[in-house]
Amino acid sequence: MLKPLSRDELLQIDARISDRDGWDFSRMRESFGDPPFTFESTLDGLIDPTTRLLDQGTGGGERLLAHAARFGEAVGIDIEPGMIDTAERNRRSAGVENVSFVPADNAATRFPDASFDLITNRHSVLAIEETARLLAYGGHFLIQHVGGDNAANLFELFAWRSNFPSEWSEPLIAIKPHLEGFGLEAIESHEYRIDWWIHDIESLIFWLHSVPTPSTFDIEEHWIGINRAIEVLGDDRGIRTVEHREMLVARRV
Ligand SMILES: C[S@@+](CC[C@H](N)C(=O)[O-])C[C@H]1O[C@@H](n2cnc3c(N)ncnc32)[C@H](O)[C@@H]1O
Repeated sequence: MLKPLSRDELLQIDARISDRDGWDFSRMRESFGDPPFTFESTLDGLIDPTTRLLDQGTGGGERLLAHAARFGEAVGIDIEPGMIDTAERNRRSAGVENVSFVPADNAATRFPDASFDLITNRHSVLAIEETARLLAYGGHFLIQHVGGDNAANLFELFAWRSNFPSEWSEPLIAIKPHLEGFGLEAIESHEYRIDWWIHDIESLIFWLHSVPTPSTFDIEEHWIGINRAIEVLGDDRGIRTVEHREMLVARRV
């Protein structure tokens, strides 16, 4: 079982934690209940080796590069040039040849109409009109959002009521009516809430520094919240919170 720590001990742990690189969370020690679907399992029915894929808000391209063997070619875009540099570095070190990265706003790209068979958007800003323009007829748009209950019981302990920025986690039910006006038909939607254990304090503090919390996480200000999390949410596997995800698949008609 995790035990509450002194302010100084928490400050020392915090000082050892380096910044997130791209959107790479692989250093976290964590585990999950069984989700009924995943972004990856939903992709199964949507890609084949001929697919031309666009990944919006690709971050460091971590997810896109992991699937490179499953599609024909792909472009990852991100509004932050630094993310594109990180993604290109990740691409080279993974030895992937069928993916390129371009700095661009999801809402305004320079690709010709109907350039892609599949567009993915995992936890980024939605741009429905531009997405519809870029999709070939019959092509698919796969969106995953962070649900509003994600880590909500943890955030409460820091007196944070809201979760991720609304443009990254707008309930997908609210998006459905907007799709039709742009020639997109929702064909599948799911959500899940599962147990999520963060196994140690290093991982918890890294995560709090790495996601857009309602106010910037600062150990000097928030160290008591860490101890509250240990006391209230601690069990024999770590800090037990909730992962909430929503997913929607639309087809260009
Ligand atoms: C939470 S990260 C998700 C990264 C990646 N898709 C993943 O799932 O790991 C959101 C990304 O969207 C990018 N982003 C935000 N607004 C954007 C926009 N208007 N156009 C393109 N990218 C954007 C951010 O720079 C960030 O890298």
